[in-house]
Amino acid sequence: MTSMRFAPDWTDKAVVPAFQDVLDVSSRFLMLMGGAGSGKSHFAAQKVILKNLCIPHYSQAVFRKTRRTMRESTFRDLWRTICDMGLARFYRKNLTELSIENQVNGNRIISAGLDDAEKIKSMSEIAGAWVEEATELSEKDFDQINLRVRAPGPNEIITSFNPVSARHWLKRRFFDRVNPPARRVITTYRDNPYLPTDYKAELEAYAETHPEWYRIYGCGEWGVAHEGLIFTPERHWRITYTLLEPDYYDEIIYGLDFGWNAPSALVELRIRDRKEVTLVERLYQPGLTNDDLARRMRKAILDPRYRIYADSAQPDRIETLRRSGFNIYEGRKDVLDGIDHLLSQDLYVYDSPNIVEELSEYRWQTNAMDEPIDMPYKDMDHAVDATRYASYTHLVGRGIMTMGKLSGVN
Ligand SMILES: Nc1ncnc2c1ncn2[C@@H]1O[C@H](COP(=O)(O)OP(=O)(O)OP(=O)(O)O)[C@@H](O)[C@H]1O
Ligand SMILES: [Mg+2]
Repeated sequence: MTSMRFAPDWTDKAVVPAFQDVLDVSSRFLMLMGGAGSGKSHFAAQKVILKNLCIPHYSQAVFRKTRRTMRESTFRDLWRTICDMGLARFYRKNLTELSIENQVNGNRIISAGLDDAEKIKSMSEIAGAWVEEATELSEKDFDQINLRVRAPGPNEIITSFNPVSARHWLKRRFFDRVNPPARRVITTYRDNPYLPTDYKAELEAYAETHPEWYRIYGCGEWGVAHEGLIFTPERHWRITYTLLEPDYYDEIIYGLDFGWNAPSALVELRIRDRKEVTLVERLYQPGLTNDDLARRMRKAILDPRYRIYADSAQPDRIETLRRSGFNIYEGRKDVLDGIDHLLSQDLYVYDSPNIVEELSEYRWQTNAMDEPIDMPYKDMDHAVDATRYASYTHLVGRGIMTMGKLSGVN
């Protein structure tokens, strides 16, 4: 691995100590893996700006899966770093292009989403890259970037991500080998002295309530690949960091599972091309009366015209909610067909610890010989059920049901 010093010493003070060792060396692959709030993105931005300042004729690009998400994440982090360093007057930013140019040495930093195939194709060679939330990328995406990083200068691809699943290709490629072709820094919120204490407390609370979520976002450890799961991570569902404006999606619907001792779960489904479904948990709480539920749902639902599909075992609660003005229907309850349908969808889970927790535990029951039977365990399936009612009824079952409130739905 070749390395090269380039950063002046004065920057060290502003860098989270855990990243100090990789600040002024470049390696072909720098993997910044870790829990939430550990300072990965902030550090990546600092390093990109330092290289922009210190290395002559050095062109860099920042990548994310979706271009639309970059303005408020990577681009904002880069510009904030420039401002923090008191350098804003030496830089020019272009908000349309999401590019930044150093007015002193002419070095540029451009932004590209992997969803913009034309831009990626037409991109000239670059010397350095930062790939943010890299678990959203396919290995092919990553290889495309890798091929472009060959302009003169110390070549480096900085990759920042949370370890969302032990089945992810990033683990196989960069972590499961004895001598991985990468420099790796693994951090957690405990490494970041700049993190607000209330955020730390919030994360720590997940240790009790959402162990699977805490494992990934608190401890910075790979999400476990459970055997015998119905929904396999990275195959049937994955975590996403991208939630685009509603108009990006073809439609938005909701699934609702009623609970009392168990939580009531309201899940938002943002659907594109009938197959790509982004799930967001909007409500997950036990002990809600109909009034409570209606009040909370009114706040949570983006547009009262969006359809809600609810647990048809409770027609009276559905009726009450309909009278309160919700566009609510009975969801189809065929468990196996519904699960089959969900298994054929590409599910993306956005900022939803309860959904992650359920999907990570949802299993077939077993018989006396320990063989799986056609019946899932029913103890932790509220958000999964809500999702199933909505997706299956809306995308497959509409109009088929002759009984109940669905007839006449178009
Ligand atoms: N060197 C620093 N100086 C000041 N604040 C910092 C520094 N590093 C990180 N922070 C702050 O800590 C918080 C978390 O940092 P950051 O967003 O980089 O974490 P992350 O590891 O990328 O988290 P996630 O996994 O959630 O994306 C941010 O509010 C950031 O501004
Ligand atoms: Mg980050």
